[in-house]
Amino acid sequence: RSARAVAAAMSVFVTRRIPAEGLRVLSQASGCRVQQWDSEEPVPRAELLAGVAGTRGLLCLLSDRIDCEVLDAAGPDLKVISTLSVGFDHLALDEIKKRGIRVGYTPDVLTDATAELTVALLLSACRRLPEAAEQVKSGGWTTWKPLWMCGYGLSDSTVGIIGLGRIGQAVARRLKPFGVRKFLYTGSGPKPESAAEFGAEFVPLTRLAEESDFVVVTCALTPATQGMCNKDFFGRMKKTSVFVNTSRGAVVNQEDLYDALAQGQIAAAGLDVTTPEPLPTDHPLLSLKNCVILPHIGSATYATRSTMAVLAANNLLAGLRGEPMPHELKL
Ligand code: NDP
Ligand code: DGY
Repeated sequence: RSARAVAAAMSVFVTRRIPAEGLRVLSQASGCRVQQWDSEEPVPRAELLAGVAGTRGLLCLLSDRIDCEVLDAAGPDLKVISTLSVGFDHLALDEIKKRGIRVGYTPDVLTDATAELTVALLLSACRRLPEAAEQVKSGGWTTWKPLWMCGYGLSDSTVGIIGLGRIGQAVARRLKPFGVRKFLYTGSGPKPESAAEFGAEFVPLTRLAEESDFVVVTCALTPATQGMCNKDFFGRMKKTSVFVNTSRGAVVNQEDLYDALAQGQIAAAGLDVTTPEPLPTDHPLLSLKNCVILPHIGSATYATRSTMAVLAANNLLAGLRGEPMPHELKL
């Protein structure tokens, strides 16, 4: 093949500035021609549509909605989509499959970082860390008071995990040594092999809500999980229970969560993910002392993001070369 044909076969569009290690993999690959939206900020839709036109490979982020419009703009040459995420709810998979496009993603490499952040968020919410730290700054700390700044601990607790997948299991593994008495979990079906390590019991969502002292959401966002944590769910939780979500914001009905927190129906919440992202600074949830909100930083360690970028780049290259990808999403 001519040099031009090889270059065309390996043309890729990268939708954001990514860790240098990942970009290096692409730029050092023989014949790979990289175009990039080289910014910390998301690519504007028009630039995305222009950038994908005629490209063979697309390296995208969870903040890029890859739908029919983008696929049409790319045209029939698009062969591979590699997302810098384990979540793939931003990809129109039916349409992607119909067009014979392969998809790469980044499972496993971010599990530890995300589980660690989930535990940090849970502890921040149940032991009221941001609220307490604020008291130190504002002069609210006057003396040691027996009844002040009390929260809820994990000792002898029941923890309910919605989605005992890679991250859900890694969270349970980290929480167990805190003295958790019982793990419950829910999902599309029982997973005895995964649950055995924690003696976790598969229960319906309603029972998980009713019996858990801590609810941790680590499932994928799907039509079945969208809005799953709603008024009925929070209404079943105990007044002393804490809710933590590090999956996707849309699993939660935020109005219902606000009501549950504001009315003291549940004790506290910790959210790493919201709808929309970023959450507007005047959002009612941000006015609540018992709600800790983080800006989607589950996988945000330097090492993890670098590894994710290298994996996403290698997925893309393998797909373009017609080879097995390190991590391909089975469509
Ligand atoms: P896995 O695929 O390993 O786990 C997903 C879990 O979701 C599975 O255990 C699955 O259970 C469960 N699930 C699916 N349908 C339902 C349902 N109806 N009810 C309850 N659970 C359900 O993925 P990971 O653990 O690697 O990642 C999970 C999600 O975490 C990602 O999809 C992503 O959205 C989010 N994430 C967020 C990060 C952050 O920065 N906050 C970082 C990384 C991931 P079953 O097998 O029974 O179907
Ligand atoms: C993912 O990978 O899906 C996370 O949300 C970000 O790492």
